[in-house]
Amino acid sequence: MNSKAIAVMVSGHGTNLKVILEAVAAGACPVDVRLVISDKADAGALQIAHDGGVAHVIHLNPKDYPDRALFDAACADLIDQHGCQWIVLAGYMRILSSFFVRRFPRRIINIHPAILPAFPGAKAVEDALAYGVKASGCTVHLVDEVLDGGSILAQSIVPVLDDDTRDSLHARIQKEEHKLYPATLRRMVEDGFSIVGRTVIWNANHSRLDQ
Ligand code: GAR
Repeated sequence: MNSKAIAVMVSGHGTNLKVILEAVAAGACPVDVRLVISDKADAGALQIAHDGGVAHVIHLNPKDYPDRALFDAACADLIDQHGCQWIVLAGYMRILSSFFVRRFPRRIINIHPAILPAFPGAKAVEDALAYGVKASGCTVHLVDEVLDGGSILAQSIVPVLDDDTRDSLHARIQKEEHKLYPATLRRMVEDGFSIVGRTVIWNANHSRLDQ
């Protein structure tokens, strides 16, 4: 199985990072998590990265940079310096600048806790509950310059129950995220994909992650 160097960008607890690292260790996700970048010093994901044996675990403080573009440029330089071909956003809560997205076209992947295009943005779980939907879920997608608007790689649906709170619904969604994210990364490596219009077509050899 081929390996592929990825950078994971995080801001929070890091449960998605954890399941990716566990899948890699179990031989179920043929990627090489070479670099983890957090924009938060207290992100639990930093400890998870250390515990998971990631070689390069870096906190960059946005306040040390005059603007978003320069912060993103520092992240992009680190990603290039470490030879990472792909960037996996795992609970990274900063909006990426156009500069950053254009520097890695179709090479940034995100997981979002809703069935896009419904409920983009930072409050997806709350927004889905407030709207009164009876099902929600998670989406793995490529990142483009539209917030949560890139081509969809995979989705998984969960029911919304009458007595759900933000936390109970998010916990149900996260269970699905933890299966979907490693499985989708694996599929990207093993099957490859192409994009027709904005639709991802799997099993297209010329877009394989390992080429
Ligand atoms: C995940 O539920 C992910 O979908 C969400 O943040 C959580 C991170 O959890 N991402 C977004 O809302 C991005 N807009 P984790 O830190 O435990 O992986």
